[in-house]
Amino acid sequence: MTTPSPAERPTDSAIADPLVDRFDRVHRSLRISVTDRCNLRCFYCMPEIGAEFAPRATLLTFEEIRRIADVLASRCGIRDVRLTGGEPLVRKDLPRLVEMLASIDALDDLSLTTNGILLEQFAEPLRRAGLKRLNISIDTLDEVNFQKVSRRSGINQVIRGIDAAIATGFETIKLNTTAVKGVTESEIISLVQFAIERNVQIRFIEFMPLDTDRCWRTENVLSGETIGAMIERAFGPLVPVPPPVASQPATDFRLPGGQSIGLIQSVTKPFCDACDRIRLTADGAIRNCLFSQQEFSIRELLRRGLRDDELVDQFRRAVAAKAAGHGIDDGDFSPPERPMYSIGG
Ligand code: 5AD
Ligand code: SF4
Repeated sequence: MTTPSPAERPTDSAIADPLVDRFDRVHRSLRISVTDRCNLRCFYCMPEIGAEFAPRATLLTFEEIRRIADVLASRCGIRDVRLTGGEPLVRKDLPRLVEMLASIDALDDLSLTTNGILLEQFAEPLRRAGLKRLNISIDTLDEVNFQKVSRRSGINQVIRGIDAAIATGFETIKLNTTAVKGVTESEIISLVQFAIERNVQIRFIEFMPLDTDRCWRTENVLSGETIGAMIERAFGPLVPVPPPVASQPATDFRLPGGQSIGLIQSVTKPFCDACDRIRLTADGAIRNCLFSQQEFSIRELLRRGLRDDELVDQFRRAVAAKAAGHGIDDGDFSPPERPMYSIGG
């Protein structure tokens, strides 16, 4: 299906129901978790044993997901959809969902965040189905460290997945490294080198309090500033690059050779002011923030025949309740009840 040129699309002022919150933030980005299951057990996300998963009957079907994305894109000005997990590629037939979403004309962007384990097999089918961009998580290049972080084996599989994605040719491929003090420092230089060799951007994300094991402490956050200084010592000055979109969470830099580096300082420099994201969990709850304590389940309403305008109302209600920021630094901060693997990264 052809994508209409931007000129043919409704302009922002013509959008019937833009999702604007109390702080005038317009929401254009929808992150959809397609499963809470995962083939890894990263310590900053999941427990090593005993993770609890949503019963399969509670997962939104591909048809339900497509309907939600279509209604939000055509009525509310949602412009991009990112698929997340758990690990999205463990959901059966994911390329079929990608194909269904790619046929929504009002969407500009369709992307996926993956841990790379199954990417060697899925890179081509995903691209063929219409996926535009990929973010691949890689925290280490060393199998021993990989097993410490993810409590499973497979770094070579991840690297083969990254190389398969590069060979397939997506619009952009970004590598994401979650940075944790005492774990990541020894890997930064080799990961940057790895990204340079493959000519893909690498981004370092500060460790956030979203782990099920509640091992997060302020002291474990390896700050973007520290990471930047380590990269500069090894590769030369990092020159800031203006963001392509104001809402992107990463601050982008370039190294002297042109390599693009992103720092996502979610803890030390929150970017909540420019947030344009809304989330849908695999079991059909709307969340207005990774860290919110509140969510709005629409699964049963959908299954009881919710109309399109009522569906929009549910999203408006969730957006209206969005807080100004995540408040990690507030004295009374408490992490969300749902862990990261069940919210969607
Ligand atoms: N803090 C920061 N990033 C996290 N991720 C998962 N848990 C955390 C956390 N507690 C990242 C993963 C992956 C993306 C989906 O989210 O490393 O890159
Ligand atoms: Fe799985 Fe991603 Fe969580 Fe790691 S961070 S356990 S890969 S969902």
